[in-house]
Amino acid sequence: MSVKYFHLTVKEIIEETPDTKTFTFWHPIHAAVSYKAGQFLTLMPVINGQKVRRSYSMSSSPNKDASIAVTVKRVANGLVSNYLCDHVKVGDAIEIMEPMGHFVVEPNPNKERTIVLFGGGSGITPLMSILKSVLPVEQSTKVYLVYGSRDENSIIFKKELENLEQKYEGRLRVLHVLSKPSYTWTGYKTRINQASAVTFLKQDFAIDIATAEYFLCGPEGMMEEVTNSLKIFNVPADNIHQEHFGSGILHVEEEDGDDSVKEQTVTIQYEGTDYQVLVKPHETILEAALREDIDLPYSCQAGMCTACMGKCVSGKVHMDEEDGLTDKEIQQGYILTCVAHPKTAGVVIEVE
Ligand SMILES: Cc1cc2nc3c(=O)[nH]c(=O)nc-3n(C[C@H](O)[C@H](O)[C@H](O)COP(=O)(O)OP(=O)(O)OC[C@H]3O[C@@H](n4cnc5c(N)ncnc54)[C@H](O)[C@@H]3O)c2cc1C
Ligand code: FES
Repeated sequence: MSVKYFHLTVKEIIEETPDTKTFTFWHPIHAAVSYKAGQFLTLMPVINGQKVRRSYSMSSSPNKDASIAVTVKRVANGLVSNYLCDHVKVGDAIEIMEPMGHFVVEPNPNKERTIVLFGGGSGITPLMSILKSVLPVEQSTKVYLVYGSRDENSIIFKKELENLEQKYEGRLRVLHVLSKPSYTWTGYKTRINQASAVTFLKQDFAIDIATAEYFLCGPEGMMEEVTNSLKIFNVPADNIHQEHFGSGILHVEEEDGDDSVKEQTVTIQYEGTDYQVLVKPHETILEAALREDIDLPYSCQAGMCTACMGKCVSGKVHMDEEDGLTDKEIQQGYILTCVAHPKTAGVVIEVE
């Protein structure tokens, strides 16, 4: 099945903090865009005559909110985040790629569980969607959120979280953690790290750590520290979910010898056609396909979002970055074309 593209019209723009805005969109007239709590949209604005793509998790809930929303925090010198915050107006239409992502929770009225969310900065967005979606449906489930921000003014959704905590009293607990608060702040002044995570779980929440489900979205270091603390309590890997926003600089590792830098012809099976693509040294399979005008799906181009996922059914590939896939997906042969290079001749990739 091929990826769907839509044009969404901006309905409202809400200033959440001095550097963060929420954009709500009307659903298209003909068919509502369906999505799961925790998924992201790929926005494809045209900037300086060039169409660019960036992923933004939906901060809205598919089962509670009438409009779709994304919440964008400016990144210093960032092209798209600043363009959206400075130039996009109500009534503008932006092309999007259909919602994607596996960092999801599907609310189930028969479930009673403990869900712990760890967020940092703009990483609150999918967590907001998750908590707004789960709490009204799973009436016995408890949700705990640890949210790290710089100071009081940079807390995104502060008021909304307060209101939700009141509405779901006893079932939603929000703990704000600030790294540089004002002197009047009486809450935690720390970063979310291995030691503080244990304190929040054991002392503040007093939950059964080993059986809870965890969703982490924030700086890579924060997620690594929290994961390390959960491992101490034997939390199964399947119960720890992470969403990666960051765009690190990726290098082609050459530990496998010269194979990773030789040019190879790769077969890409997409929408019923077999494309033969010559992948040059240091080029990714996605880059080579786009150079040949093959319209493969992609978004972040950094091995984070999984929009470009394919399955390697023959030959071998090397990936610069594997964090976006689970161990099981890697074992099953799934790859991310945006960070994948052919390692052998005869590579065949199926893209759905
Ligand atoms: C699955 C997914 C979901 C995302 N959801 C959201 C969301 O809900 N809200 C949101 O604000 N952003 C989100 N992002 C990040 C977003 O896609 C962009 O990467 C971000 O807005 C920066 O884009 P830019 O064009 O402004 O910066 P660019 O022009 O791409 O980058 C400029 C500079 O900033 C650095 N940089 C890029 N991204 C980040 C980052 N996230 N943090 C710190 N430095 C960065 C780059 O290394 C570069 O040096 C998400 C990313 C992914 C992969
Ligand atoms: S485009 Fe996002 S993982 Fe490849």
